[in-house]
Amino acid sequence: MDTKAPEGKLGVLIPGLGAVSTTFIAGVDAILNGRSAPIGSLTQMATIRLGKRTENNNPRIKDFVPLAELKDLVFGAWDIFEDDGYQAASKAGVLTSQDLDAARGTLESVKPMKAVFDHEYVKNIDGPNKKAAATKMLLAEMLMDDIKSFRAKHNTTREVMMWCASTEVYIEPTDIHSSLEKFEAALLNNDPGIAPSMIYAYAALKSGVPFLMGAPNLTVDIPAIQELAMLTKMPIAGKDFKTGQTLMKTILAPGLKSRMLGVEGWFSTNILGNRDGEVLDDPMAFKTKEVSKKGALDYILQADSYPDLYKDLYHKVRINYYPPRGDAKEGWDNIDIFGWMGYKMQIKVDFLCRDSILAAPIVLDLVLFADLALRSNMRGIQEWLSFYFKAPMVAPGLYPEHDIFIQLTKLKNTLRWMMGEELITHVGHEYYDSYE
Ligand SMILES: NC(=O)c1ccc[n+]([C@@H]2O[C@H](COP(=O)([O-])OP(=O)(O)OC[C@H]3O[C@@H](n4cnc5c(N)ncnc54)[C@H](O)[C@@H]3O)[C@@H](O)[C@H]2O)c1
Repeated sequence: MDTKAPEGKLGVLIPGLGAVSTTFIAGVDAILNGRSAPIGSLTQMATIRLGKRTENNNPRIKDFVPLAELKDLVFGAWDIFEDDGYQAASKAGVLTSQDLDAARGTLESVKPMKAVFDHEYVKNIDGPNKKAAATKMLLAEMLMDDIKSFRAKHNTTREVMMWCASTEVYIEPTDIHSSLEKFEAALLNNDPGIAPSMIYAYAALKSGVPFLMGAPNLTVDIPAIQELAMLTKMPIAGKDFKTGQTLMKTILAPGLKSRMLGVEGWFSTNILGNRDGEVLDDPMAFKTKEVSKKGALDYILQADSYPDLYKDLYHKVRINYYPPRGDAKEGWDNIDIFGWMGYKMQIKVDFLCRDSILAAPIVLDLVLFADLALRSNMRGIQEWLSFYFKAPMVAPGLYPEHDIFIQLTKLKNTLRWMMGEELITHVGHEYYDSYE
């Protein structure tokens, strides 16, 4: 594959200057200044095996594929609040004041541009830093102007747009989303079916910027945006960062299935008290999240293929907004399983996690890989990035792969394939002489 070298600055354009994005920016600053290792980031820490096991060739991914360097990242953001990155991070309450002060200069330099926002789509918050225009098409053009100005100001050679803004209310695709032509007409007609996130995605792709969706919003799933990505040769990926409870689910469920253990029930509940929790307290926003969270088990366990083990699975997911916890979420899972002769067992998981700490390295990896895809002319849906998402996108007609171990194999094999290396199948028969 003919991948262009990552020359010059890479702009990271982020709708949503909240807990996740400020934790990401502060973390990049900490890594660059030697205060922290890039923990949780595959691009920075993981190795990839090349060739046979006997060859002992395991370079770091960042030394194997031509990724942008952290020192070349420049950050830009939009938010409905006027707080700069430092103020927003202080309010998010994820990092200690010591860590915030150490990254203060970098955080303060990110001043949010006026957002494209619609209260109908995010009911529980509102703020003053918003664009106003007569049509949604004009709003998209204003975002394209923002991108142009950012490019000129920071002298970037490429940009990636990474949605870290709120979860929007649940919507299903309609006729206006079915083609680019209808979508553009709807932008001009101010159709209520066009969500703010779709306007950002449209503006990004039209500006030659890949778009990634970190929330469970419909945005990049609609045919119109996928058509635009193909037309403009831009990578897109989504949706909903796989952190916390779903991360645990997609680690545990493949293990249980691999040993042919039955699962009768999986009850998941969470308490969290950050702004994300406040937004998800609205039933229609929760519905968007619920749909995204519930798919994983069905696809991993394949009840159709294993009715004896999974046909009666009862799966329930709850999110409870509980302000005292802030970003320090607690997720409980009660898993009712059964084994040999139908005997029942239980697994209890109590994950005292930090959502934004788990999401920040995902943001970094996604931005770097989307830029790699852009420089490699890989357009449209990037299924190899499923590893990072709760509800991974796939080509029409395919089912999404949720098993985190298969997702990792796919990601690494895609990197090997891009670099012209042999794919690794794990068969390994060449190490034994028992075959004629
Ligand atoms: N933290 C995680 O582990 C995790 C996992 C999966 C998905 N997510 C999703 O990532 C997103 C960010 O999470 P967070 O914890 O940082 O939330 P947050 O509430 O701290 O930050 C989101 C920010 O987006 C802003 N915003 C809302 N609508 C906007 C718009 N139209 N344009 C620009 N800004 C807008 C809000 O004002 C807020 O500052 C959420 O949608 C969340 O559901 C987070």
